[in-house]
Amino acid sequence: MLTTIKDVAAHVGQEVKLGGWLYNKRSSGKIQFLQLRDGTGFIQGVLVKSQVAPEVWEDASKLTQESSLYVTGTVRQDDRAPSGFELDVKHVEIIQVAEEYPITKKEHGVDFLMDHRHLWLRTPRQRAILTIRAEIIRAIQEFLDQKGFTLVDPPVLTPSSCEGTTNLFHTKYFDEDAFLTQSGQLYMEAAAMALRNVYSFGPTFRAEKSKTRRHLIEFWMIEPEMAFVEHEQSLEIQEQMLSYVVQQVLKNCERELKTLDRDISKLEKVQAPFPRITYDEAVELLHREGFTDFKWGEDFGAPHETKIAESFDKPVFITHYPTEVKAFYMKPDPNRPEVVLCADLIAPEGYGEIIGGSQRIDDPALMEERYAAHNLPLEAYQWYLDLRKYGSVPHSGFGLGLERTVAWICGLDHVRETIPFPRMLNRLYP
Ligand code: 4AD
Ligand code: MG
Repeated sequence: MLTTIKDVAAHVGQEVKLGGWLYNKRSSGKIQFLQLRDGTGFIQGVLVKSQVAPEVWEDASKLTQESSLYVTGTVRQDDRAPSGFELDVKHVEIIQVAEEYPITKKEHGVDFLMDHRHLWLRTPRQRAILTIRAEIIRAIQEFLDQKGFTLVDPPVLTPSSCEGTTNLFHTKYFDEDAFLTQSGQLYMEAAAMALRNVYSFGPTFRAEKSKTRRHLIEFWMIEPEMAFVEHEQSLEIQEQMLSYVVQQVLKNCERELKTLDRDISKLEKVQAPFPRITYDEAVELLHREGFTDFKWGEDFGAPHETKIAESFDKPVFITHYPTEVKAFYMKPDPNRPEVVLCADLIAPEGYGEIIGGSQRIDDPALMEERYAAHNLPLEAYQWYLDLRKYGSVPHSGFGLGLERTVAWICGLDHVRETIPFPRMLNRLYP
């Protein structure tokens, strides 16, 4: 039976057999140092010429980068080793000697690495990021499950848009037109009226011609939707959820954060409650900070969000945006109908908006007005109006962009590394 590298601590002093790949190799002529990885971790194998059979030494000498093999050896605790352990190798069984590997020790450009994304995934850095991504998903689901939310899956092929028509992916659905979903929200509202507190987790698509470090064409969203929950209470759930996620990553992914050289002290501060400022206050802040041309009624761009975030060491909610810049379904503030009961959550350190959410319009007449103002065809949106006609209740929800959250928690320069196979402007391969 094979042991895995993550479990070697339980086998100190024992002989184990690992299945893995050669990540790197150094040789002094008398000793070969085999850097091994097996998908669960990394360990150094030490092969001493005078202590193994000549064939074993020969076989090890043939190993190229990314060759696959079985290794047998004794686990030794070594506090100088990054993993805390080394393997004194007795035997090597080659599965395949790999062809010359394209990703070498030297620096490679981003385009080259993206073209080889299927291989790039094997590096410690990419492994750490994908491990943290999985932990973030796990923690979110654990949090929501504990709070009594039910997972509901919305469709991916849809007849209409949720977040506006400018960035829809069009496809044919036999003789009809269809679109890849931009957000499951509208369906989650239907589900909330059936199951009360629900959430979806799935891929969403935006045909956005933006080439920024925050935009993907295909990204994953977590979208909770809650019946009988109003704006302020939704913010409380958001800040609790995000604090929980960050604290779980700190607890369970210490090694991965270290691999990424993440400044943990910044994450440790991410504890609820988060500061809240209104859109109006954010505009004043921007004016004070030199963005004197910014006019009330415009939407914030990345530089504005970054500037606003600099004033806080936790994520900050910006609430009550002008109705004009936000989606058709957001509920106007009853005291001030020119703004809506919404909030964007802006991450620290320049990562921008990671959550968008709002209270939803619950009045059928107002919703019909919005359809007209936004040119939404009643045929396609009749069902959504029905939700306001048959037992309408106050309800709120939000969408957390997984990749931006991963980029922030991992401290990455770009969202392209947060998803195994990113879909970006001009990139569909591999
Ligand atoms: O703010 P957005 O567009 O909100 C919605 O789609 C709502 N219907 C969600 C809801 O209330 N259920 O998107 C939500 C989040 C953003 O805050 C951002 O984190 C992420 O999705 N996001 C993107 N992430 C990567 N690439 C893109 N092109 C993104 N667009 C949005
Ligand atoms: Mg948004």
